Amino acid sequence: MTEPLTAAAPLWRPLALADAPRLAALLAVCEAADGGVGAVPSAADVREDLSAPGIDLDAGTTSVWCGDEPTAYATTRVRERSGPVHQLALDIAVHPAHRTGPVIRRLVDWCRSTGARRHHELYDGVPLELHIRTHHGRGWLAEALDGAGYRRERSYRGLRVDLHRENQRLAGAPAIPDGTEIVPFDDALDAPLLAARNAIFAHNWGSAPMTARTWRHTITGDPCFRPGTSFLLLSRRNRDILCYLLSTEPGGVSADRELYLANAGTQPALHGRGLYRAVFTHTLVRAKEQGYRWAVADVDTTNPMATGGFYERMGLRPFRTWTTHVLPFTPQPRRPSP
Ligand SMILES: CC(C)(COP(=O)(O)OP(=O)(O)OC[C@H]1O[C@@H](n2cnc3c(N)ncnc32)[C@H](O)[C@@H]1OP(=O)(O)O)[C@@H](O)C(=O)NCCC(=O)NCCS
Repeated sequence: MTEPLTAAAPLWRPLALADAPRLAALLAVCEAADGGVGAVPSAADVREDLSAPGIDLDAGTTSVWCGDEPTAYATTRVRERSGPVHQLALDIAVHPAHRTGPVIRRLVDWCRSTGARRHHELYDGVPLELHIRTHHGRGWLAEALDGAGYRRERSYRGLRVDLHRENQRLAGAPAIPDGTEIVPFDDALDAPLLAARNAIFAHNWGSAPMTARTWRHTITGDPCFRPGTSFLLLSRRNRDILCYLLSTEPGGVSADRELYLANAGTQPALHGRGLYRAVFTHTLVRAKEQGYRWAVADVDTTNPMATGGFYERMGLRPFRTWTTHVLPFTPQPRRPSP
């Protein structure tokens, strides 16, 4: 185990892509200490995250090192488009042996000042919110965020189903509405799918329209994305995208393969007609055939569908909770030019 952080020993520096394997190892230790309910990213996943649009390694990340070992890091990620409120995403990880008040506070303070600076460089005059998520095993970080003035804004329930055990609901072909077909994701559908996603999420809290670059990088071009277990419901007549459910496999293939149900939507005019139920059931049946053990979803507790018990009726059971912490900033009036 590395020595606890002291004022003299650690080196603070921005992250580099070459740090990815060591950061993945750090995250595995952190997640084990935090209860093991979050996915542990692989080195490739971390590398991908560090290359994401909105990440600036030199100007928007920091990390703490004891010799060759990272003991903590933080990242700030700006949006490619601000929207009416620029929601800037933060990430913080600290090795369990180094979770001292001064280190956590310094990282939280660094996020605040770096986030504010990056925001003002890009979107001066637009309101800013800093956003960061914790799961229920990360009370140490949630409390530090409370102390720094963050609001606990939204919560998400993580649910999962053991596909090996679940037979009753996953037997036979799921019913598909007349005049539609279900197809796996195909690159030819990428651009129309992005357009459908942006229309469906236009009024969803925390969502901003995605550019093709962000979409490709974080969704359909992500190494975790599983096109063969991601399905679209199309109209037979025009092949319009009516509903979709996109899946990932965080951390790569493991003995207990986990399919994460990452992103779903139904065209607003077609809500409440069973389209999502059809795509969801189809996805679980195919996931089971493909050898996945778990299907996992994190659902917003304010979503009426989630509170209505749909996921429980489909056999999923709660196993974690997530909280989104938000620190709002009031825009400062621009200084008049001299
Ligand atoms: C969430 C969403 C995908 C559901 O799609 P949908 O096609 O309208 O859902 P369905 O008609 O198939 O309904 C699925 C289940 O939820 C229930 N449901 C749907 N809307 C509901 C509502 N407003 N209140 C309560 N229950 C609801 C249905 O009764 C059904 O349950 P059942 O099969 O046990 O009866 C859709 O509302 C949507 O696109 N929302 C915006 C994007 C979003 O929030 N995506 C999810 C996060 S990634």
